[in-house]
Amino acid sequence: MRALPFILLAATALLGASPAAQANEEALNKAGCMACHTKDKKLVGPSFKDVAAKYQGQDATAALVQKVRTGGKGVYGPIPMPPNPPEKINDADLKGGVEWILKQ
Ligand code: HEC
Repeated sequence: MRALPFILLAATALLGASPAAQANEEALNKAGCMACHTKDKKLVGPSFKDVAAKYQGQDATAALVQKVRTGGKGVYGPIPMPPNPPEKINDADLKGGVEWILKQ
């Protein structure tokens, strides 16, 4: 039965929903990001697919973590994103969340 963990891993990879990715999405849900963002439709903010497409091939994680923390505007339009302080989302969840966003 040594193959079982591997089979489970392969199965979740095939389904496209690894436990880690789900945890990242869940953290963004809890932090209230999904009030303004969705995976594939523009809401108040850009869709995460649009964000991922914009930074494709770039290592944008650190810059985006910073931007989400402090908020900002002007990249997608005049509507600002408010700051998201550590009480809302901790560093690890924010970094994991941004990495997940960039894979959409
Ligand atoms: C009140 C609405 C709102 C909330 C809540 C919000 N955002 Fe945003 N977000 C925006 C808007 C508006 C923009 C576009 C800003 C711009 O044009 O520069 C944006 C932009 C972004 C970007 C792209 C930034 C860039 O410069 O390319 C990322 C990544 C992002 N948000 C992630 C998050 C995460 C993660 C959270 C939760 C911790 C979050 N947002 C919460 C409204 C929101």
